[in-house]
Amino acid sequence: MTSSNPKHPLSGRALITGGTSGIGLAFARGLAVRGCGLVLVGRNEERLARTARELKLNYGADVETLGADLARKEGVEAVAARLASADSPISVFVNNAGHGLHHKLATTDIGPLTNAIDVMGTAPVVLGAAAGAAMKERGEGTIVTTASVSGLVPMGLYSALKSLVRTWSLSLGFELQGTGVHVVTFMPGWVHTELHERSGITTSNIPGFLWISAERAVRECLEGAEAGKTYIVPSKRFKVMAALAQHVPVSVVGAVTARINKGRDT
Ligand SMILES: NC(=O)c1ccc[n+]([C@@H]2O[C@H](COP(=O)([O-])OP(=O)(O)OC[C@H]3O[C@@H](n4cnc5c(N)ncnc54)[C@H](OP(=O)(O)O)[C@@H]3O)[C@@H](O)[C@H]2O)c1
Repeated sequence: MTSSNPKHPLSGRALITGGTSGIGLAFARGLAVRGCGLVLVGRNEERLARTARELKLNYGADVETLGADLARKEGVEAVAARLASADSPISVFVNNAGHGLHHKLATTDIGPLTNAIDVMGTAPVVLGAAAGAAMKERGEGTIVTTASVSGLVPMGLYSALKSLVRTWSLSLGFELQGTGVHVVTFMPGWVHTELHERSGITTSNIPGFLWISAERAVRECLEGAEAGKTYIVPSKRFKVMAALAQHVPVSVVGAVTARINKGRDT
């Protein structure tokens, strides 16, 4: 799973938000294989402890845990402080935590909308600022942000937030060019994780061949990052989906996404 002579080796200590499940856990395992120390961030303390034990046992990794709710200002501040630490610097930041969302946009029930903005909009931008500033100062580091192919289509607030972090991450990459900080925008499509079930999102209307495993998606991301890539869409099927989303008329894309969304209302 590791490249033999990487252009941008991934080493040192990696902080992963959402490192206890799905895509984040696959990053934790992939980085542990490369010999990285880990800082796992999540809300569920019991799961953080269990995941840390697994990673220590299976990979001999040095693992810290940091319980933080990224929907809350205190949680984001605690993680930003860890990213800024000069005593135990973070060399790889995986800006990944998130959740599914299927919620009306025209509604008086705005709690789920503002929560999603906090977790998948504000938190990645604030944490990326902290990591970017600390890494720029040291002249080295890698920041990987999990956006999504869904950020290329009009499919509710979730896709709008993925569009935000995609554009933000690409912009951060341009801003940090020449500083020694490597910024990677990661664009998966549908990945088998707990996300959809946890958020009560029906996926039965999405054909099985469109899904890939978290391990596969993350392997392509880590190998691509090591090779110096800055924009990674894992698998041919997601590359095709991304190309279609950007080149087919928006009315056609909208009709397809509306159909997927409608299937989720039942
Ligand atoms: N699965 C897909 O099809 C897919 C496709 C494209 C992009 N993505 C993106 O990939 C990222 C990871 O999702 P996943 O599919 O791996 O989901 P997952 O299996 O449900 O894992 C989500 C992780 O995020 C953490 N998390 C969620 N809300 C949090 C909060 N408020 N504060 C702190 N941590 C929080 C969870 O930890 P706790 O349980 O401890 O809160 C968990 O470790 C997300 O940004 C998602 O949007 C997913």
